[in-house]
Amino acid sequence: MADRRIATLKAVPLFAACDDKQLGFIATQVDEMDFATGRDLCREGASGGEFFVILSGTAEVRRQGRHLRELGPGDFFGEIALLDGGPRTATVTALSEMRCLVLSRGEFQNVLRQNALIAVSVLQTLGERLRSLLADQAT
Ligand code: CMP
Repeated sequence: MADRRIATLKAVPLFAACDDKQLGFIATQVDEMDFATGRDLCREGASGGEFFVILSGTAEVRRQGRHLRELGPGDFFGEIALLDGGPRTATVTALSEMRCLVLSRGEFQNVLRQNALIAVSVLQTLGERLRSLLADQAT
């Protein structure tokens, strides 16, 4: 079971730089969950408790009803509300059946504290998302 979980984690770009010891720790922190098509995994304005990494399936990110992006396998979402404790910045809806790795706030923080490279990857993506939100506001 632990080996299978580690093999799953190895295929996730966010965890690509982790060694087996770090993956072993991450494996103790994540849950694997399935979500049905149409399910809102994050709701704009609501408080957020989880961070998601997509293993399979796709999701749509919308803000104020406007399409922002489609996310697929290897992408992650839900980091913003967990990092700053504020409300969700967008709604993320499953466009198909999805399988995700799910981390609670405490688990997400444990993983970021354990591995600076993961924290940097999350920060890089956060920067890209900030730019896309700023560009969206300018239109
Ligand atoms: P959070 O605000 O916690 O919940 C909604 C999530 O949607 C957010 O975290 C990001 O993970 C994601 N998100 C917000 N804006 C964008 C964007 N422009 N592109 C991709 N994902 C986004």
